[in-house]
Amino acid sequence: MKKEINGKTKIIGVIGKNIENSLSPLIHNQIILKCSLNFCYLPFKIAETDLGKAIQGIKALNIRGVNITFPYKERVIEFLDELEESTRRIGAVNTIVNNKGILIGYNTDVVGFKKSVQEEGKFIIKGKKAVILGAGGAARAVVYSILEEGIKEVCIFNRTLEKAEKIKQDFSSFFPESSIYVFPLREESIKDKIEEANLLVNTTSLGVPPQIDKTPLLEEKLIHPDLLVYDLIYHPAKTLFLRQAERAGAKIINGLPMLVYQGIESFYLWTGFKPEGEEVLEMIK
Ligand code: ATR
Repeated sequence: MKKEINGKTKIIGVIGKNIENSLSPLIHNQIILKCSLNFCYLPFKIAETDLGKAIQGIKALNIRGVNITFPYKERVIEFLDELEESTRRIGAVNTIVNNKGILIGYNTDVVGFKKSVQEEGKFIIKGKKAVILGAGGAARAVVYSILEEGIKEVCIFNRTLEKAEKIKQDFSSFFPESSIYVFPLREESIKDKIEEANLLVNTTSLGVPPQIDKTPLLEEKLIHPDLLVYDLIYHPAKTLFLRQAERAGAKIINGLPMLVYQGIESFYLWTGFKPEGEEVLEMIK
């Protein structure tokens, strides 16, 4: 199969600060080829001071839509015209659709996380207990996703406690059946909380280059074999955090399945085409 770019080619892409290692261009361009669509997915490396201008540029250049990645998922909201309803509650956007000059924000990370846990992890979220490390834009989607699936208890540990408190404050009233607790990242109580948990997720950027030798969990012995340990990072494929978890006998998942499943949902919003997750995972192996 050969890709033709011509005057009718529609542009989609990803906006982020450090996207040199992003797999999204590979994933989306493979799907485009497979579906024989006249689209092209490009990486846009944007400096923090240029974010507003870049988002305006989506309209000016008639780009069909973009993914938004680290560290702009929350900051981008002020530049959009509309937010899909649950995305407004989540307070983080990973997908923008340009609907005839109106920029609408969506969050496909929620479905992406849910599907990857269910399909790849063979894990049932309902009734379980989770420990979430981090409270940034990605954490907001993960926490919302597991609350929506009926998790019993979520404990959020973050360096900046106020950000974890904000998540609790924003989400609690929508999910009264679930308990949300927040703690500073380096607090002792993490030991007990992990011991009781079934799911442990790293949403922090500890482990992403240049912080490649960092892990959010200082003590490896906190991890037990009955945990599903999930790191949203996919580059490197096995972070120090996942290596710790593996040594402790836990089941591990990296960020690739979530990237694929969220990407499929975003692709559907831009094109109306929705390939199977397993098929896409197979394509990029
Ligand atoms: P994303 O959109 O990927 O979630 P983000 O919103 O910038 O990105 O969030 C990054 C997360 O990594 C935050 O939880 C951040 O903690 P703070 O809220 O305290 O900033 C966490 N993080 C980044 N570097 C960290 C570090 N050196 N130690 C601990 N946590 C860190």
